[in-house]
Amino acid sequence: MTEEIPKIKIIDAKNFVGKTVTIGAWLRQKRGSGKIAFLQLRDGTAFFQGVVAKADVSEEVFETAKSLKQETSIYVTGEIHEDARSSFGYEMAVSDIKVIGESHDYPITPKEHGTEFLFDERHLYLRHLKPFATLKIRNTLVAATYEFFNKEGFTKLDAPVLTGSAPEGTTELFETDYFGEPAFLSQTGQLYAEAGAMAFGKVFTFGPTFRAEKSKTRRHLTEFWMIEPEMAFMDQEESLKLQERYIAFLISKVLENNDQELDILKRDKDLLRSYTQLPYPRVSYDDAVKLLQDNDFDVEWGVDFGSPEETFLANHFAKPVFIVNFPKAIKPFYMKRHKTRDDIVVSADLLAPEGYGEIIGGSERETDYDYLKNEIEKLGLNMDEYAWYLDLRKYGSVPHSGFGLGLERMVTFVTGEEHIREAIPFPRMTNRLRP
Ligand code: 4AD
Repeated sequence: MTEEIPKIKIIDAKNFVGKTVTIGAWLRQKRGSGKIAFLQLRDGTAFFQGVVAKADVSEEVFETAKSLKQETSIYVTGEIHEDARSSFGYEMAVSDIKVIGESHDYPITPKEHGTEFLFDERHLYLRHLKPFATLKIRNTLVAATYEFFNKEGFTKLDAPVLTGSAPEGTTELFETDYFGEPAFLSQTGQLYAEAGAMAFGKVFTFGPTFRAEKSKTRRHLTEFWMIEPEMAFMDQEESLKLQERYIAFLISKVLENNDQELDILKRDKDLLRSYTQLPYPRVSYDDAVKLLQDNDFDVEWGVDFGSPEETFLANHFAKPVFIVNFPKAIKPFYMKRHKTRDDIVVSADLLAPEGYGEIIGGSERETDYDYLKNEIEKLGLNMDEYAWYLDLRKYGSVPHSGFGLGLERMVTFVTGEEHIREAIPFPRMTNRLRP
C-alpha cells in the first residue's frame, strides 16, 4: 500500500526535509532554461521555489511547468530540500504539477508599476510580497491588541458606527441620511467607551473610524481602525504607563512572530527592538515649542504641530515621545482642565520616531457636569445628542482617562512603510473609494 502524500503549507516545509509533499500554491514568477524550470511559489503562508528538472520528471510535467502563466493555481508535489542560497532556506524538487485554475494575462508583471496602478489593482496586488508582509504584521498587531487588553483585565466594548454626535469636531464628518434625520459615521468610539468604563471599569473599543479629512497626506485615511481603551479610576500618568507598555508589547510581538515579513520589508529589527525600552520621554507642549524654536522652527505657542515638527521632536529623542498638556484651544471639549492653568488640558500625543508622526492621542477626561455642558454649548453642538454623555457625570462620576491608537499609523511605523495606504487592505482616501 502506498503511503498518502501529506498536503502541507510552505511555512511548514522545514518539518518535511527529505519527504515528498503536496502544496496548493500560486505561481508568482518563473524562469529557467531548456533543462530546468524554477517556479516561484506562494501559498499565503510564505514564498519559496520549486525546481523542475527535465531529467527527473515526465515530459508532460516539464511541458506543464514551462507553460504555466503568472498566478496559475496548482497542486505541486515533490521532495523538500534545504536550500542555503535562499533566505527561506528550503525548496522543492518538483515531481508532479496539477493545474487547478488557469490564469489570464496577469496585469501586475515583474516590471515596475506606478502606485496608482497598483492600488487600482489592489484586489490582486494583495498577493504580492510587500502587501503580504505589511498585512501579516497588521494581523499580529490586531491579535496582540486583544492579548494585551485581555491580560490587563479589559472588556472589549463595541461602539456603534452610526452616531448622532461629533466629539472630534464638526468639520470632518461623513453625514448620511438615517430615515430622514442626519447621522454621522463615527469619528471615535470614545464617548461610548466612557459609558463602558463606568459599567466595566476598563474597556476598549476597536472599530472602523471615519474622517472626511480633506488633507491628502501620507498619514491620513478617510476610513481607519482605531483602538480606544478607556479606564475608570485612572489618571493621566497611569494611562501613559499603560500606553507605553502596550506599544512595547505590540513591537515585541511583531519581532517575535514576523521575522520573515520584517526581512521582506527590510525593516531594521535592532532599531525596532530599541523602541521596546521604557519609559518613553514625556515633554510638555511648552517645552516642545521652546525646543522647536531653538532649532529654527517657526512655531508660536498655541499652534498644533505639523508633520515636520512632529518628525523633529521624535527624532530628537530617538524613540517614541509623549507630548503632554496641549493648549485647550486646539483640543476637543472633553479633555480635563489642568489643575493650575486654564489654557492647557491634561492630554498627551505619542509621536513615533523616523517621521511616522502621531500614533496615539489621548487625555484624562473632564468630570465636571456644568463645565462640560457649557463647553458643548459654546461649540454650538446639539445638546440633545450629548445628554446621555452628560449623564455619566451625574451618576457617580469618577476620574478616568483614555486614548486612541490609529492601527494603520502603528502598522506604518512598525513596517517602515512610506505611506499609510499600504497599511490597510482596501484604503479609502479623498481620491480613492475603489476597489
Ligand atoms: O487624536 P485623535 O483624533 O483622538 C481621538 O479620536 C480620541 N477620541 C481618542 C481617545 O482618546 N479615545 O485620533 C487618535 C489616533 C491618532 O493618534 C492617529 O493615530 C489616528 O487616530 N488617526 C488617524 N489615522 C489615520 N487616518 C486619519 N485620518 C487619522 N486621524 C487620526
